[in-house]
Amino acid sequence: MFDISHIHAFGEMDTPFYFYDMDLFRRTVAELESLSSRHGIKVHYAVKANTQERLMRFLSSRGFGADCVSGNEVLHACACGFAPENVVFAGVGKSDREIMESLDCRIGMFNCESLQEISVINAFAASLGLKAGVSVRINPDIDAHTHKYVTTGLYENKFGISRHEFEPLVDLLGQCGSLELRGLHFHIGSQITDVEKVYSLECVRAAEIVRWFEDKGLEIRNIDLGGGLGVNYEEPDAEPVPDFATWFRTIERNLPLRPGQTVHVEPGRSVVAQCGTLISRVLFVKSGETKTFLILDAGMNDLVRPALYGAYHKVENLSAADRSAPAEDQVYDVVGPVCESGDVWGAGRLLPLSVRGDLIGIRSAGAYGQVMASRYNLRDLAPAVFSDDLF
Ligand code: LLP
Repeated sequence: MFDISHIHAFGEMDTPFYFYDMDLFRRTVAELESLSSRHGIKVHYAVKANTQERLMRFLSSRGFGADCVSGNEVLHACACGFAPENVVFAGVGKSDREIMESLDCRIGMFNCESLQEISVINAFAASLGLKAGVSVRINPDIDAHTHKYVTTGLYENKFGISRHEFEPLVDLLGQCGSLELRGLHFHIGSQITDVEKVYSLECVRAAEIVRWFEDKGLEIRNIDLGGGLGVNYEEPDAEPVPDFATWFRTIERNLPLRPGQTVHVEPGRSVVAQCGTLISRVLFVKSGETKTFLILDAGMNDLVRPALYGAYHKVENLSAADRSAPAEDQVYDVVGPVCESGDVWGAGRLLPLSVRGDLIGIRSAGAYGQVMASRYNLRDLAPAVFSDDLF
């Protein structure tokens, strides 16, 4: 929800830009911090969702860890104040350079996704005379009931080590003298909305797999359940802070722990999505043969989620909220300026009568927005604007 003073401040600014509501961000982080400490759950923020230094510095100052998926994310997390021992590095394809740099930084843990990767990390750690902390990512073959592109825990997906390699994995870990096994890692997908059903299934499966490895004599101290908690894209103002409580309660009820065992989670989207809005302007209103197009100055290069996943983002006319006479709603196809027919913010959207120059907010854009932007069509990258700097 925007207050009128924000909208007035936007009136002076070049568009498009990403606006971050820092009060909402801090509120979200405070809720996550208090609930995670109440449930004894350790949180690593999934850096891939948003790498803005201000947000990352705040998260590191609150004692969260960082979940990274590239060498550059590892370096960035360390530069933003995350303690290296609280940094984990996941991903199916870590390059030699990325592994060496992360060992040099003395990160806490590699989340390993294949037997070959485990051998390579062991060899590099041995060459440096180090012991590297590792956790093994398991493919638990669970359907997260979300978009196919962000489903990661099925056997058809490239992620994790699946059951047929468990025995060879135990043998291999026994031979890797430069590794220290810390735990098992699971992440089954993103934008999970059926929280109780999906996470209880993940917990039950994780507990079963943990037991299997413990029976083989391995000590599993960390059980990392990954990220994935969904946010309300349809009505962001109805649920500005995601329901961390239900997520953590589901975990606590369904994952029995032995003494000394800790649950880790890696939320990304749920921490940052709702505090971000892509602010744009109406360039033109055009009558097509069968529909009216609202053409904005923000496009798929600024926020690719609708074009890539068919994702829904709420579109709001912010200027209309500031007009004295309430305007009648019209049906628009809201589109961007990029030369592709898939550059659509929403077809058949009901918005107040909109005119050239109106400010438009594309909501819930804080996660996987700026980080996935490109300079396609040689367009400029939309900058970040923080609410703390407006007044
Ligand atoms: N941990 C691992 C191992 C992951 O692969 C991911 C996300 C997360 C944690 C964080 O998940 P989250 O809490 O944000 O759902 N670009 C897509 C999302 C890709 C997610 C990739 N992995 C989107 O815009 O929906």
